[in-house]
Amino acid sequence: MDNMIRSLPKAELHIHIEGSLEPEMMFALAERNGVRLPYRSVEEARAAYAFSDLQSFLDLYYEGARVLMEEADFFDLTAAYLKRAHSDGVRHAEIFFDPQTHTDRGVPFAAVVSGIHAAQAAAAEESGISSKLIMCFLRDLSVDSALQTLQQALPYREWIVAVGLDSAEVGHPPEKFAAVFEAALKKGFLSVAHAGEEGPPEYIRQALDLLHVSRIDHGVRCLEDPELVDRLRAERVPLTVCPLSNVKLRVFKTLAEHNLKRLLDAGLCVTVNSDDPAYFGGYVAENLRAIRKTLHLTEDDIRALARNSFEASFLSEEEKQRYVDEIERFEGSRDCGSR
Ligand code: ADE
Ligand code: ZN
Repeated sequence: MDNMIRSLPKAELHIHIEGSLEPEMMFALAERNGVRLPYRSVEEARAAYAFSDLQSFLDLYYEGARVLMEEADFFDLTAAYLKRAHSDGVRHAEIFFDPQTHTDRGVPFAAVVSGIHAAQAAAAEESGISSKLIMCFLRDLSVDSALQTLQQALPYREWIVAVGLDSAEVGHPPEKFAAVFEAALKKGFLSVAHAGEEGPPEYIRQALDLLHVSRIDHGVRCLEDPELVDRLRAERVPLTVCPLSNVKLRVFKTLAEHNLKRLLDAGLCVTVNSDDPAYFGGYVAENLRAIRKTLHLTEDDIRALARNSFEASFLSEEEKQRYVDEIERFEGSRDCGSR
């Protein structure tokens, strides 16, 4: 079954590129760029990755991102992620980046987006993995800062498919960014937003009604609101769920208590993703492997998650159908041993 999980075609729709910065690369880039790190070794960095909530993670995540200075650094980071994702059977990735984390330190927007874009093109050429880019606004920063960031992105409109909303959720409801998303939608960007990770179901409603999102990132708290669940099912709004992240950030105490199976059983379009794999201890196949075992998912559940990942993506209807057909034809447990 683990081999089946790895070889099944899948899309990853919730991955923060800065969250794929493995400690080894963090040390290499710190050396290359003359940045001091608060850790003496890779092991010490990994040992520090014990979080009590989202904010305690974000503090280390932003600290780690300081080593990313040059276009080449963003290239290396993205190339490493896409290579790793490809080895997990990811055929298509929709990648978040947080420009404000870098522009606020004086790194030019152009360096960030050009490095990432060049790595996307190189990976497509080398392995065939396709990818799209989603620009996230940091919701704990001001609306003005988000609007400025949107302006900076306009020359790169063709490289960025959608805008998103991330960082510290509670106290920064989607409604704060309604005008920013309206401006982005007018410019032709699609939209997504983190909502219902630590924040209440009301934030999910706001993301749908005020930000007009195509999908909800996390969204696991929707189960607290049965009417909202009915709406998510009826409108087939995808949720990009990140099981290992949710346990690391204590949204759920243990993986056994995770509500992913209940979300699936409620008929929702659930997808499985890694969020910040360098910090949470697993890329997408590891997330699938862990939930399959702990939540007792069937092979049909795993196939449904893979189908959902393409259905929820920003690929064209033809591309989606091609992957769904491939999943349909995919030989699962019958030849597990030979894969
Ligand atoms: N930025 C990176 N990972 C995040 C998460 N899980 N929630 C909100 N913002 C994030
Ligand atoms: Zn996230």
